[in-house]
Amino acid sequence: MNTRLEKNLNKNDNIPRHIAIIMDGNGRWAEKRGKLRICGYKNAIHSIKDAINGCKELGIPYITLYVFSYENWNRPKEEINQLMNLFHSHFKKYLKEMDDSNIRILTIGELKKFSYNIQKDLVLFVNQTKHNTSITLVLALSYGSRIEIIEATKKIAKQVSMGCLSIEEIDDSFFKKNLYTKDIPDVDLVIRTSGEQRLSNFLLWQSAYAELYFTDILWPDFRKQDLFAAIENYKRRKRRFGKIA
Ligand code: IPE
Ligand code: IPE
Ligand code: MG
Repeated sequence: MNTRLEKNLNKNDNIPRHIAIIMDGNGRWAEKRGKLRICGYKNAIHSIKDAINGCKELGIPYITLYVFSYENWNRPKEEINQLMNLFHSHFKKYLKEMDDSNIRILTIGELKKFSYNIQKDLVLFVNQTKHNTSITLVLALSYGSRIEIIEATKKIAKQVSMGCLSIEEIDDSFFKKNLYTKDIPDVDLVIRTSGEQRLSNFLLWQSAYAELYFTDILWPDFRKQDLFAAIENYKRRKRRFGKIA
């Protein structure tokens, strides 16, 4: 680790509890090299490992990775097929490695849109790693905040219409319990790579008070020191949550 960053970061004070990463710029990374877009996704694995290991070193207990959005289903069929093949082969390949590293894996998103094989991989991931304790890795797959909030609203409305719930009981914490992320703390820091400065329907409820960090680095080039730079920047932020400092 870069010694200056190490000195600043190892204090453990003001370290985020949950960071969420929009891993963007994979296609552009490949196109810049005259390669097929899928090559960018294949080169993303090094960045993913670095981000997880960096969080582990800093004692950040939760990391959420935006792997595939609900809107990404609208991409060309060929790209979707290549991505699905890659997911299936990678999920198989990395399960043991994740488990051996004591990583607990959770998933959020509309998983039923995936093929039976991929759903099976994901159930195995979650079940096999559920007692692991080094870090919780949340994979956002077929994830969109709006659909998540709509589904939560439907569940709650059903309970009200059946007379099991009164409208007065619906508050922030009750609503949260109906989201995919019910057992996961709110996001402290959102990182987006590739220079785009938007949330793209990612964790809108959970990031209500998150700090946002944007970098021009394309995701396949993102390394541990880039994560540490983001955390160092986060540590300098003054979070007020509507109060006075
Ligand atoms: C994000 O990378 C990952 C997925 C959507 C699967 P992109 O595919 O959006 O890469 P760019 O933004 O086109 O470079
Ligand atoms: C967001 O990136 C989704 C993921 C990183 C998985 P996109 O590339 O799909 O977002 P937009 O279309 O640029 O907003
Ligand atoms: Mg993109």
